[in-house]
Amino acid sequence: MSTKIEKKNYAAITAIGGYVPEHRRTNLELEQLTETSDEWIVKRTGIKERRILDADLGTSDMAVGAIENLLENYSKKLEDLEAVLVATSTPDMPMPATANIICEKLNIKNVLAFDLNAACSGFLYALDMGASLIESNRFKNVLVIGADKISTYVNIHDRTTNILFGDGAGAVWLEASEEPGILDAKLLSNGDGREFLNIEAGGTLYPYDYELVGSEKRFIKQEGKVVFKHAIEAMSKTCLQILEENQLSIDEIDWLIPHQANKRIIEAVGREIKIAEGKTLINIEHYGNTIAATIPLCIWENTHQLKKGDLVMLTAFGAGFSWGASLLRWAI
Ligand code: COA
Repeated sequence: MSTKIEKKNYAAITAIGGYVPEHRRTNLELEQLTETSDEWIVKRTGIKERRILDADLGTSDMAVGAIENLLENYSKKLEDLEAVLVATSTPDMPMPATANIICEKLNIKNVLAFDLNAACSGFLYALDMGASLIESNRFKNVLVIGADKISTYVNIHDRTTNILFGDGAGAVWLEASEEPGILDAKLLSNGDGREFLNIEAGGTLYPYDYELVGSEKRFIKQEGKVVFKHAIEAMSKTCLQILEENQLSIDEIDWLIPHQANKRIIEAVGREIKIAEGKTLINIEHYGNTIAATIPLCIWENTHQLKKGDLVMLTAFGAGFSWGASLLRWAI
């Protein structure tokens, strides 16, 4: 296979970890709170339960859990790290960056560390930034994390969103490699989607004050149908573009690992790009949409299925709108 860009320095994923909180919010629990049913939720979204982090913990605590899980399973040393990139829309606080808080909690010293917000596409953006650091030949070991505690922003009494979202974190170790690992990425965004999927309050435009405490503005809101349609179109188109630009046929892809927002979206993308049955990895049933964490969590849960050398396509779509697809060669 000849990739679009012949690179001198390559980056590959050489370790992975994940973390989900223990508390499960089941469909049955949601049935008690709003007018909905397990049957409706499963049929329309594929979700049966989501994990919810304790109120007194933050996004960084889940990221630390994912990194500790990675360290338990792979022989990596934190002192080798040179950069920590955190994709999140739900930082512990406006500043410092959640990346800095994670470094403090794990005693990671003197590294490049920052947060990146590209909503549900954040992990793909951060993975590409991490790979670029390694390809620049100035970095050899970079930790890329996708973590979100979206439950803070979910109105538990809003049945159009409370069914969809959950908390979680995933982390991958990116390392300089002789063989190509991260092969290509096509990451895009525009502002057209702002009104259809957002959390308005908590920033500088609508800072939290007494008026906002009881306001809808502090919750995630979306026009489900509009997001649904755009998600299918954007992910399918970008996957097909990345295949074409790398002169690949869909049959050469071993695994499609999409953002987990709705099982029907995932299945529609699969049909659009004509990927063979059984090649698309799905774990939405247990976690719902964990924003920047869905893709690393789905890879993490399926590492037993991935073989070294497998060709993997990732794709995501989220607020902004932001979207994209990435191509990688599994290297573990
Ligand atoms: N339980 C029961 N009924 C519900 C419901 C719920 N939780 N939520 C909505 N309904 C009702 C609606 O009121 C509507 O009733 P009506 O026909 O009497 O008006 C009916 O079910 C259909 O609602 P609709 O919004 O058309 O459902 P849908 O098939 O579009 O599914 C979503 C709703 C939210 C599951 C779906 O639009 C979706 O997944 N959108 C994209 C979400 C997403 O990916 N977000 C993140 C992007 S990163």
